[in-house]
Formats: sequence, C-alpha cells, structure tokens
Amino acid sequence: MAKLLDIHKLSAGYRDAVVIDDLSFGIGQGEAVSLLGRNGVGKSTLLATIMGLTTVSKGCLEFDGKNIANTANYQRNRMGIGYVPQEREIFASLTVEQNMRVAARPGEWNIAAAYKLFPRLEERRNNYGNQLSGGEQQMLSMARALVGNPKLLLLDEPLEGLSPVMMDILLDAVKQLKQSGLTLILVEQHAHLALEVTERVVIMDRGRIVHDGRSDLLLKDDATMHQLLGLAHAHQVENTAENSAENAAGNISASVRKPDLKLAS
Ligand SMILES: Nc1ncnc2c1ncn2[C@@H]1O[C@H](COP(=O)(O)OP(=O)(O)O)[C@@H](O)[C@H]1O
Ligand SMILES: [Mg+2]
Repeated sequence: MAKLLDIHKLSAGYRDAVVIDDLSFGIGQGEAVSLLGRNGVGKSTLLATIMGLTTVSKGCLEFDGKNIANTANYQRNRMGIGYVPQEREIFASLTVEQNMRVAARPGEWNIAAAYKLFPRLEERRNNYGNQLSGGEQQMLSMARALVGNPKLLLLDEPLEGLSPVMMDILLDAVKQLKQSGLTLILVEQHAHLALEVTERVVIMDRGRIVHDGRSDLLLKDDATMHQLLGLAHAHQVENTAENSAENAAGNISASVRKPDLKLAS
C-alpha cells in the first residue's frame, strides 16, 4: 500500500543553508512515529519541511499519493497535514473557543471532541489565549490542529517546559490519538516518554536518519540510546535515592520518575 507520507532523497533548509541532507523516510497510514535526536540535528526543520515552510533544494515529498514539493503551506494544511510547532501557535487575543473555531474544518474532530480530549480547555473556553498557562496553551495548540481534521499530525516537542502533571495529560492525549488511528510524528526531547506512546522510532543526526526501528526495542537498548541520543543509562537514573523516595510517596507520575532522561544538548 502507498505510504501516507513518502520522502525521497530530500534536501532542505533555510535559503542556502542545507539542514536536511538526502533524507528518505516514509510513514504508513495509522503509524505513530517518534522522531528523536540531539538538539540542532534538524528535527524541527524536517517537520517544517513537511509543512512547506523551508527551502527544498532536492528530492521528492509525497503526501496521500500526491507530490507536494511545490504545494504552498496553507494548501498542505487543507490537504490534511496538521502542525503543532515548537512555539505554540495560538491567538492571544482570541478566546479558547474562538481559537478553535477559526481552525475548524468538517470532520470527526469537532470542538466538542477536542473538549472531551482536554476537559481543561472547556473550563477555560472563554479565557483569552494570553490568559492560559503553558500547558493549557499547548493543549489549545494541539486542539487547534485536531479540529482541522488532519490525516497526519506533526507534533514538535509538545512536552517542552511543562510541569510533570501537564506532561502526563498531553502524553495521554497523544496516546489516545494514536489509539484512534491517527498518523502522527512526535518530536521529543523526553525520549523515553515518546517511545512509550509510539510504535516506531526514527533518530536523526546532522540532517540524516541514523536509526529506524521499533520503539519498544529501543527502550530496552541502552547502548543505542546512549550512542545516538546521549542519554544516561535508564537503570542508573531509576535507582537514585531521590527517585526511590518519590516513588515510595506513590503520588508521582511515571514522567517525574525519570528526570534525567532528557536528551543532552
Ligand atoms: N529559521 C532558521 N534559519 C536558519 N537556520 C535555522 C533556522 N532554524 C533552524 N536552523 C538551523 O538548522 C539546524 C537544525 O535546527 P532544528 O531543525 O531546529 O534542530 P532540532 O529541532 O533537531 O533541534 C540548526 O543548525 C539550526 O541552527
Ligand atoms: Mg526543534
């Protein structure tokens, strides 16, 4: 079966600076993929390239069977690519509900469905974008992408800068989206958390893909995690006294138990 997204020998970047280098990569319908890598390797640039926001110098980019290499950004969005950029994209001067209304397109993801995924947003429906906490802004940014009813959802570090409680809420939302069959790419610095909610993982280094495999296998592969992501060994982190104390308290979520499992810069 044709891939939903098919990238072939693609090079892209910003004006003359080539960041994505001869990269090939495909995603099938319904796949949830973690896109990992150290800071600056080109993860955000790859998502921006799929979204049509960079300069492509070489290669092919097919989405849903159509060559979109020359398709404008807003048209890609209409064709079904949803994008939650690293800088949360919401309107500060619109309410939560208005923010969603201007992004909505017909489909199963309507505003009621977004409120069901994020009940907190319904409580805040009449608050303006600039009255929201970081976590609420991230929920709204994701909700805005969802009510556009995308076939492919691109998430760029949705957990960045959030409290552990908010991280859990957003991670759980990603898990629900995956279970609903939505195709998605999740860029994350919290590698272990991303691996837990996706089935496949792609690792980038200097604009190229250096690993493509199953998330569950990478989770058990400390050596590769260390080599490609610069992560500390998981068991060393989990056995620290501080973490044991937190675990014993019983009220700390999984995401807080692994504070060191963030990629090194
Ligand atoms: N808007 C931009 N203009 C020029 N260079 C950029 C821009 N955004 C990112 N870069 C450069 O592209 C490279 C990859 O960055 P990025 O895609 O943000 O990496 P990552 O998301 O993996 O941390 C870096 O060298 C960065 O400095
Ligand atoms: Mg980035």
